[in-house]
Amino acid sequence: MRVLIIGANGKIGRQLVSEMQSDSNFSPVAMVRQTNQYQTLLSQGVETALGNLESSVDSLSKLMIKNKIEAVVFTAGSGGHTGADKTVLIDLDGAIKSMKAAKESKIERFIIISSFASNLWHDNHVPESVKSLGYYSAAKFYADEWLKKSGLDYTIIRPGRLTDNQATGHIQIGQLTEASEVSRADVVSVIIEVLNNEQTIKKDFDVVNGSTPIALALREMI
Ligand SMILES: NC(=O)c1ccc[n+]([C@@H]2O[C@H](COP(=O)([O-])OP(=O)(O)OC[C@H]3O[C@@H](n4cnc5c(N)ncnc54)[C@H](OP(=O)(O)O)[C@@H]3O)[C@@H](O)[C@H]2O)c1
Repeated sequence: MRVLIIGANGKIGRQLVSEMQSDSNFSPVAMVRQTNQYQTLLSQGVETALGNLESSVDSLSKLMIKNKIEAVVFTAGSGGHTGADKTVLIDLDGAIKSMKAAKESKIERFIIISSFASNLWHDNHVPESVKSLGYYSAAKFYADEWLKKSGLDYTIIRPGRLTDNQATGHIQIGQLTEASEVSRADVVSVIIEVLNNEQTIKKDFDVVNGSTPIALALREMI
């Protein structure tokens, strides 16, 4: 499966590219926005595409078609060092532009990395962990809402606070409200498992550290 990884220079993105490179089921195509990142990845033998989420839907669609993409993983984000303007332009608008580009390119499968419990942004009892993140939670909420209505074969993954700890292979997933953390390495394994399991299509769930093996946790959720 040829998978476009949007946000491939990020912490999750890099690990995902590396995992997919050693998995014969996948041919990752890393989308990055800077030429030095492009050159580095190419020199590591990674198929790479230069693209920017602040460009047009049309240019993103051309990139997807040119690279014969079959599924998209959106794991980009403006990062905590930027302000609300970039959160809107990347986490919300950039995500929706990627969904539109996927539709225009006749790609069906779309996985997004959202954030923990952001689906509860409009809930009467929105958890404090979601409320305190303000516009970031709102951006994630609306991007995910758009994806649900897009007609794409989506899966929405909402991780807790990300750590750089080693993979445990064990998680807790579901519609969760108790904020906790999860390693990026385990999130990468969840993404791969999700792509391998069509029953995760049109599903959304939170993921944090836990005691259930990843594949089993997904099967139990379905
Ligand atoms: N941090 C947490 O605790 C947490 C918790 C839940 C969910 N999340 C979400 O998890 C996802 C991935 O997290 P992470 O730690 O891997 O993030 P990260 O390391 O900050 O990576 C984000 C990537 O997005 C890329 N990006 C930003 N603007 C772009 C643009 N205009 N065009 C193309 N790419 C662009 C960045 O590119 P550059 O490398 O060029 O800057 C970066 O590589 C994000 O969506 C984040 O919101 C985070």
